[in-house]
Amino acid sequence: MQDLLKTLGIQDLNMGATTGVSKGRLSTRGRPLISVSPIDGQPIARVTQATAEDYQQVMQKALQAFENWRMTPAPQRGQVVRDIGNRLREYKEPLGLLVTWEMGKIKAEGLGEVQEMIDMADFAVGLSRQLYGFTMPSERPRHRMYEQWHPLGPVGIITAFNFPLAVWSWNIMLSTICGNVSIWKPSSKTPLTAIAVQNVIAPVLDRHGLDGVINLVIGAGSDVGETLIRDPRVPLISATGSCRMGRHVAGAVAQRYGRALLELGGNNAIVICEDADLDLAVRAVLFGAVGTAGQRCTTTRRIIIDNQVKSRFVDALIKSYGQVTIGDPRAGGILMGPMVDAEAVDGMLAALETAQSQGAKLLYGGRRLDTMPGGCYVTPAIVAAKNHFPIVQQETFAPVLYIIGYDTMDEAIAYHNDVPQGLSSAIFTNDLRKMEVFLSQRGSDCGIANVNIGTSGAEIGGAFGGEKQTGGGREAGSDAWKAYMRRQTCTINWGGEMPLAQGIKFDV
Ligand code: UN1
Repeated sequence: MQDLLKTLGIQDLNMGATTGVSKGRLSTRGRPLISVSPIDGQPIARVTQATAEDYQQVMQKALQAFENWRMTPAPQRGQVVRDIGNRLREYKEPLGLLVTWEMGKIKAEGLGEVQEMIDMADFAVGLSRQLYGFTMPSERPRHRMYEQWHPLGPVGIITAFNFPLAVWSWNIMLSTICGNVSIWKPSSKTPLTAIAVQNVIAPVLDRHGLDGVINLVIGAGSDVGETLIRDPRVPLISATGSCRMGRHVAGAVAQRYGRALLELGGNNAIVICEDADLDLAVRAVLFGAVGTAGQRCTTTRRIIIDNQVKSRFVDALIKSYGQVTIGDPRAGGILMGPMVDAEAVDGMLAALETAQSQGAKLLYGGRRLDTMPGGCYVTPAIVAAKNHFPIVQQETFAPVLYIIGYDTMDEAIAYHNDVPQGLSSAIFTNDLRKMEVFLSQRGSDCGIANVNIGTSGAEIGGAFGGEKQTGGGREAGSDAWKAYMRRQTCTINWGGEMPLAQGIKFDV
């Protein structure tokens, strides 16, 4: 494993801020942070965190860099992102392994995460020639009207531990081709992954002379995080994390009339109809609820199932839960690694106790495992519950799956939407009408709605995000790039008259 750290330029002690280029590392002055692996509780390496003053230094560089970067033609910005994507291809294996080591997701998912970054880079390269604005006919003679999109400025990117690389890539690839400079504050639970990817792309930034375009600041939320969200020079804060964090960020950013792009908690459900292919549903639920040890914002947290097939489905699900291999996520054949830390395990066990005190019944799992000393392993839990239980209304970031029965389709949709969050959703049915009801305006109220696939594992091509307390932001594909630019409506008079809109006459 020491070789892995060497390949990625991780030392025993690492500086927690950089302006992107090889020489851009700051001598940070904050408190030390030890990154501990949830696999075995062993320290991996240390980071000297950045302070608010270090942040100011990075911001100075970013503001300077913005002057040139915004004037670089977008297709040329795309070339830089193409080179970044190629570096990621070369370093896919080590980066994926470090994700596994530092946050505990299984190897296949660690590699999948780097693949998501590569896909995002490719998408952004194409997009760098497609930042289209509409042209519209003017109501005035000899006038031309059109919209254009300009870079915003420095963008603050706050990411969570569970996708320590992919979520940054959704933001950075778009933000960069849009002509912005970015300042990334990663989760304090995954600082090494952030440093590693900056090390991997530094030669690209060296070659293009881009000091200050892609910046990293690792520091405490109360210090660096607060300074970032309150900085009036940062027109956009894109934040991924809990609803609680999002509410705080949104408030702080709104105070200064900034924009917040929020991707917060989910309480994702799958509706399983009586006619559904249950084998298919079991497979989807298994990945959705147990994958990434239940720590995706898209994790399946509720099953809303027709009472006629409920017990058959639950039996089959319990059987497949019993076959889930839990252990060192670096090993082949393992489907579930540890949770991110001991606090996450405690949170899961506490939620299960609360659920039972509210009337829920534990059907499977929900125990702490001592698979490896120092590791944070659990068995995933299946719980019979009612949708209105307060605990079911919350997002517990853990592999806890609530089973809720229904009798009518209307009831299913009512349960489905009756939670504060609105990220991802799915229905399993072969009935065209039920499918269309679910996808209609009186169906799922989520940002993502799937049919016969699970709630997690979205492709990057679509816009990703959700409604209600999920925050309303959209990242990654489709036209999500528009959030990273400012729109300008332009009207040009190329005639010799001065006609006014709405037919107003105002001549002396
Ligand atoms: C997240 O958990 O914050 O759709 C993002 C998915 C992944 C992204 C999850 N592509 O599950």
